[in-house]
Amino acid sequence: MNFDEVFERKQTNSMKWDLLKERYQSEDLWPMWVADMDFQAPQPVLDAMRQVVDHGIFGYHARPDSLREVTAGWLKKRFKWEVQKEDFVFTPGVVPAISHLIKTFTAKGDQVIIQTPVYYPFYSLIKNSERTLVKNPLKETDDGFVMDLDDLEEKMKAGARMLLLCSPHNPIGRVWKKEELRKVGELAEKYNVLVVSDEIHADLILKGEHVPFAKVNNDLDVSVITCMAPSKTFNLAALQLSYVIFQDSEDRTSYEKHLSNEFVGIDNPFATVAAEAAYLHGEPWLEALLEYIKGNVELVKQDIETNMPKIKVVEPEGTYLIWLDFREFGMSGLELQEWLRKEGNLALSDGHIFGPEGSGFARMNLACPRSHVEEGLRRLNQAYNSYKVK
Ligand SMILES: Cc1ncc(COP(=O)(O)O)c(C=O)c1O
Repeated sequence: MNFDEVFERKQTNSMKWDLLKERYQSEDLWPMWVADMDFQAPQPVLDAMRQVVDHGIFGYHARPDSLREVTAGWLKKRFKWEVQKEDFVFTPGVVPAISHLIKTFTAKGDQVIIQTPVYYPFYSLIKNSERTLVKNPLKETDDGFVMDLDDLEEKMKAGARMLLLCSPHNPIGRVWKKEELRKVGELAEKYNVLVVSDEIHADLILKGEHVPFAKVNNDLDVSVITCMAPSKTFNLAALQLSYVIFQDSEDRTSYEKHLSNEFVGIDNPFATVAAEAAYLHGEPWLEALLEYIKGNVELVKQDIETNMPKIKVVEPEGTYLIWLDFREFGMSGLELQEWLRKEGNLALSDGHIFGPEGSGFARMNLACPRSHVEEGLRRLNQAYNSYKVK
């Protein structure tokens, strides 16, 4: 485990490295945008995948029961959460899983709540399926961003059918506390709102602990469906394996039926062995990764606090993403991004794509070697100083 090691990703069909020109009209930008890691997956994962290659036969794959057992074992170990192996439905990614959840459990026109600014595909998932998007913007307080529970209650009371929760929250980096999740659970029970909890970042906790929404609200009469995956945790996104966890067997059957009608569900053998190897043998790698990410966060914080005081850091409690607040510069979302690209040669994720509440912010990906973060900071300083000079 040497997270300092630099791997060439250019010309490997990497979105983060090879789509810069297409997206930003320049290949020279320093990529700290797309949320994947510039680290190799844990060694046991690579070994398991190599065995599949050596076998060399890639015919139709039957997902083994062991994947359910191993996944349940991981959830028990990491979150003390007991999930029965039949409660899992495997899906080819969390975003498609949510799209199918929306289609299975809501009707056209139904209101779906999101807590903005939020992972931007949530917007299109709701709009593309012709549901009504309802926003419950996060509230900024002296203690950072929190949920606006009064507003959430209003929105639920007004007839929302589903809440799409992001826990931990991307891009803010909040790891929601048990008490916050409990209050949401109580509201969902009161107004009969189905909660779909996207917990893809659950393993990436830097401060505090992740509490599965379903676990903390277990005793309430509330419908909860949880989406998780090994993809963010172990850098396996391209293998397209995720899973949905149901509390209610009838809901699960409806969803399975929907997926079967849509012909969704065949896995590939790489994803299966990678997920099993990661969950069985990847924990030491994950623990070391989290320490490394904390070091990257610290580096960014210190440099910004010392040298770029007009930028404010929203310190992440979870995820490997850091939310940077440039609002003091008074630029529009577009101006800010153009400035970062032109003066810093830096590709961060534009804050405004997460919703208008994200305007004036940018998201920086810290799942990369320290030298990569240092170069990113050098470029950020360059942009910052060009601004001061003007
Ligand atoms: C909250 C959240 N959900 C889902 C995804 C993507 O999931 P997948 O690649 O499994 O579709 C991401 C990726 O950044 C994310 O941040």
